[in-house]
Amino acid sequence: MILENQQQVTPAVLEVMQKTPDPRLREIMTSLVRHLHGFVRDVHLTEKEFRTATSIINEIGQMSSARHNEAVLMAGSLGVSTLVCLLNNGDGGNTETDQSLLGPFWRLNSPRVENGGCIVRSDTPGPPLFVSGRVLDRDGRSVAGAEVDVWHASPVGLYENQDPEQADMNLRGKFLTDADGRFSFRSVMFVGYPIPTDGVVGRLLKAQSRHPYRPAHLHALIFKPGFKTLISQVYDPADPNIESDAQFGVTRALIGKFVQHEEPHPSARDVATPWYSLDHTYRLEAGEAVLPRPPIK
Ligand SMILES: [Fe+2]
Repeated sequence: MILENQQQVTPAVLEVMQKTPDPRLREIMTSLVRHLHGFVRDVHLTEKEFRTATSIINEIGQMSSARHNEAVLMAGSLGVSTLVCLLNNGDGGNTETDQSLLGPFWRLNSPRVENGGCIVRSDTPGPPLFVSGRVLDRDGRSVAGAEVDVWHASPVGLYENQDPEQADMNLRGKFLTDADGRFSFRSVMFVGYPIPTDGVVGRLLKAQSRHPYRPAHLHALIFKPGFKTLISQVYDPADPNIESDAQFGVTRALIGKFVQHEEPHPSARDVATPWYSLDHTYRLEAGEAVLPRPPIK
C-alpha cells in the first residue's frame, strides 16, 4: 500500500496483521499495533524521543545476562508483572490469590530441611524468626506432601548469592508439608532491599522521584502435582515501604502476620529477645505443577 498521510498508517499495518495464521499471535499483534500507534499519537512522540526509546530497548537487552534481567526489572517497575499475575490467578482475576512475583533470586536445588530445622548456614547476626506455614487447597483441605521452597534476604537486605559473607544457600531451604499441610523452620528476621539501580530502570526511578526499595518479604515456591505451582511472597506490614513497593508486588492477601515478641521463647532457650514469628496459610489452586526457569544459577 502506498500511503497518502499519517491517518493511513494504522489501518495499513492492521491489514497486514490480519494475514497471521496463528489466531493468538494475530490477536496479540493487532492489539499491540492499535495501542502502540494510539500511544504515539497520544503523546505525539517526537523523532528524538523515538530514537531514545529504541536505544533504551536495546540497552535493556544489552544489560541482561545469566545473572541479571533488566527486562523483568522494568516490567515489575511498570506494574506489568503484577498485572499479568493477578489477571491469571485467583479464578482469572476475580478472587484473592497468594500468587506473586518470582523475583530474580530463586535457585534450583535448595537443600532439603526437616520441619522445625534452621536455614541459617553461616553466621548471620539478626533477630531470630520462627516461621510456621500451612498449605491448603481452595476448599480448605490440607495439602500433605507439598514441596515448600523458601528463600529470603539477610538482616542487611542481601541474598546469599549477592553477599560473599554468607555461605552458599544461606537462608534457603526446601520443606515437605506434613499430614496437616504444615511446615516450619527457624531463620533470622530479614529487611527490605533496593532493586538494582545501575541501569535503565534506575534512571527511570530517579527521573520519577521513586525510591528503589522492596518491602521485607519471604519468598516461597510450593510444588505438588495436581496443583498450579504457587509462587508467593509474604510481606512485613511493619516495613516502612509496605505502601510503596518499587515492583508493585504487595497485595492485601500477601500481608503477613509477623509478630515481634518481647517475652522469652517458649521452647528455644538460646533465643534472645526480641524474636519474631510468622504464621501464614498458603492456598493452592488447581492447575499444572510446572517449575519456572530459574532466573539465576
Ligand atoms: Fe526478594
